[in-house]
Amino acid sequence: MLEPPSRARAFELDPDLTPLVAARWSVRAFDSTRAVGASDVGALVDAARTAPSAHNLQPWRLWIAERDTEQFDLILASLAEYNAVWASRAALLVVGVARDAAADGTPCPWADYDLGQATALLTVEATARGLGVCQMAGRDESALASVVSCAPGERVAIVSAVGYPGDERDLDPAATAIHRGGRVRRTRDEVATVALSAGS
Ligand SMILES: Cc1cc2nc3c(=O)[nH]c(=O)nc-3n(C[C@H](O)[C@H](O)[C@H](O)COP(=O)(O)O)c2cc1C
Repeated sequence: MLEPPSRARAFELDPDLTPLVAARWSVRAFDSTRAVGASDVGALVDAARTAPSAHNLQPWRLWIAERDTEQFDLILASLAEYNAVWASRAALLVVGVARDAAADGTPCPWADYDLGQATALLTVEATARGLGVCQMAGRDESALASVVSCAPGERVAIVSAVGYPGDERDLDPAATAIHRGGRVRRTRDEVATVALSAGS
């Protein structure tokens, strides 16, 4: 499983939280000497496939490129500079494409939500395999759409960098700041309203 980050969390969690959930963080410092094996790539895709989706339409697809391929370089070139500086060391770049309608024309208004859940499950599976994932909104969407050949009604919704964690001291200063920023969370009371029954 992915090792927890070297720096302490700035927020408390239930001590019995599933370790797999508690251990995840957005890895940006990757070990560029380690590839992700084909069977692990397949397992990540399978984890995404298990995701629930509205009416089971599964209105998304993934486009995965390994480092040292032309496709990886094209995806990397479409990332915002503040992402490209560290994502170049990732083993994989995964483009998540959402579909606004199913093949039979059924609208998929939940496509982004469904793709988000698929990406979350891919991330959990990656964590279990000792891999880090960082999802990225910072990218040039139209450049990516042509790289992954988006059909009409398809949109690039997210790009994820995946790989084995490396040395955080290799991170460039801007990425380090974002990295550290992730260690805070809103409180339970801020994010959830809970109505408990009298017996609880
Ligand atoms: C939709 C989405 C877009 C994100 N975009 C970026 C990004 O462009 N660059 C980046 O470094 N991190 C990005 N992140 C990662 C967040 O910054 C990170 O999840 C947050 O700071 C919490 O930190 P943690 O994941 O380490 O717990 C993104 C995360 C999500 C879910």
